[in-house]
Amino acid sequence: METVVSGIRPTGNLHLGNYFGAVKSFLQMQNEYKCYFFIADWHSLTTRPKPENIIKSAHTILAEYLACGINPEKATIYIQSDVKEVLELYLYLNMNAYLGEMERCTTFKEKARKQPENVNVGLLTYPTLMAADILIHRAAKVPVGKDQEQNMEMARKFARRFNTIYEKDFFPEPQSFSLATKSVKIPGLDGSGKMGKSEGNCIYLMDDTETIRKKVMKAVTDSGPTMPNSEKPEVIQNLFTFLDIVSTKDTYDYFNDKWNDCSIRYGDLKKQIAVDVAAFNTPIRERIREYSSNVDLLNNIAKAGAEKAHESAINTLKEIRHIIGFHA
Ligand code: TRP
Repeated sequence: METVVSGIRPTGNLHLGNYFGAVKSFLQMQNEYKCYFFIADWHSLTTRPKPENIIKSAHTILAEYLACGINPEKATIYIQSDVKEVLELYLYLNMNAYLGEMERCTTFKEKARKQPENVNVGLLTYPTLMAADILIHRAAKVPVGKDQEQNMEMARKFARRFNTIYEKDFFPEPQSFSLATKSVKIPGLDGSGKMGKSEGNCIYLMDDTETIRKKVMKAVTDSGPTMPNSEKPEVIQNLFTFLDIVSTKDTYDYFNDKWNDCSIRYGDLKKQIAVDVAAFNTPIRERIREYSSNVDLLNNIAKAGAEKAHESAINTLKEIRHIIGFHA
């Protein structure tokens, strides 16, 4: 069975866009591959998070992914900083990474531009740490968004370079699964193309029914169809995308017919979306609450995950040490 690795950046709560993107593909992958999903807390240090937030965000992510259905019996879910072997591989990879190529990464340049007061070496070596995350399990596949493509190219380059230097066919070149092409894109409700945290237009899995209703009722619409069977403008298509993912086919068809005969009332459409989104969110939100309130359980799951990840990591690392010439 092929191995999949993916890192989760601790950037706040999951929203519907995340659910129908990354989370859904994780849910599918855990049935088809040997999966390692981890919370990238070392990576997060490039922006100096407050100490009290590190474990809190890890617990939040764990609770939310578990609530969505990531199953620790199927996938190994762990916290990056619990598996120290990654750091040793990070060191080895850094020895074969050139300053020039790291400085030329657009991801580095962008991050440096965003925080000019803190252009730390961790930002520069972000791609080697990410490569270490992946190569430590000798992963074949990595589900990532388009924004990670350059980091993935670096990971492949480091894998090839190691193989060349030591004349061994040791690391497979990890391939990206582009999440963008596999999943439904969840639109924003503000007329912008995509639901995203930085766009400020998210419906979070944690949102309660009233919050959801308010957000949905504010969705941008137009003045309505003037001709039967006309094409839907983007803002209206966006609403139908919501219906498509959270409502029944009958409901979708009902509103689609109303659109086609020009009798649609956007108020009714939005109310329906609000109700159906709430029905979708409610059980997940309740499970998030349950997991969040059981810190012992979260710690046990993280610990069991770390043990499994450690086993895989130490196997790889023993071979690497041997290949490099450390014979201890
Ligand atoms: N860089 C990824 C992001 O920003 C997170 C990440 C860290 C990752 N290490 C990884 C993703 C390894 C896949 C594999 O989203």
